[in-house]
Amino acid sequence: KRYLLLNGPNLNLLGKREPGVYGSTTLRELEETIVKLGIENQVEVSCYQSNHEGSLIDKLHEANELGLDGVIFNPGAYTHYSYAIRDAIAGINVPVIEVHISNVHARESFRHESVTAPVTKGQIVGLGLKGYELALLALLESTRERG
Ligand code: DQA
Repeated sequence: KRYLLLNGPNLNLLGKREPGVYGSTTLRELEETIVKLGIENQVEVSCYQSNHEGSLIDKLHEANELGLDGVIFNPGAYTHYSYAIRDAIAGINVPVIEVHISNVHARESFRHESVTAPVTKGQIVGLGLKGYELALLALLESTRERG
């Protein structure tokens, strides 16, 4: 089984950006943790981050073409307004779990809406980086069920 860890805009600054909100772990450390969790479960996890909407869309299309088994996706601020990313998720046959590190519901009102969540398998919010691990475990479980 193969999965993709996909991070959107500004998440390359993880660990350096607003550590009070997003913690002090870097993107590389997060990616290492998720890849390792994959190895422990005999699956492959590839990682990609981009600050560009179109690149994230291309990556979702590629995940579909490669027939990946799931995507763990933090679309960053695109979550709140990118219909193009929403359409990309809706247009692929790969299950996507949306993750937000911070509790978006406890923050500014523009963060309360997700235009992408309705077309994902589910959303994990506010549990810090643990959310990415839980997303992979949920995908593993659902792919096991589907065989
Ligand atoms: C975020 C929440 C978004 O509102 C914000 O724009 C981000 C990160 C999170 O992981 O908490 O870039 O997706």
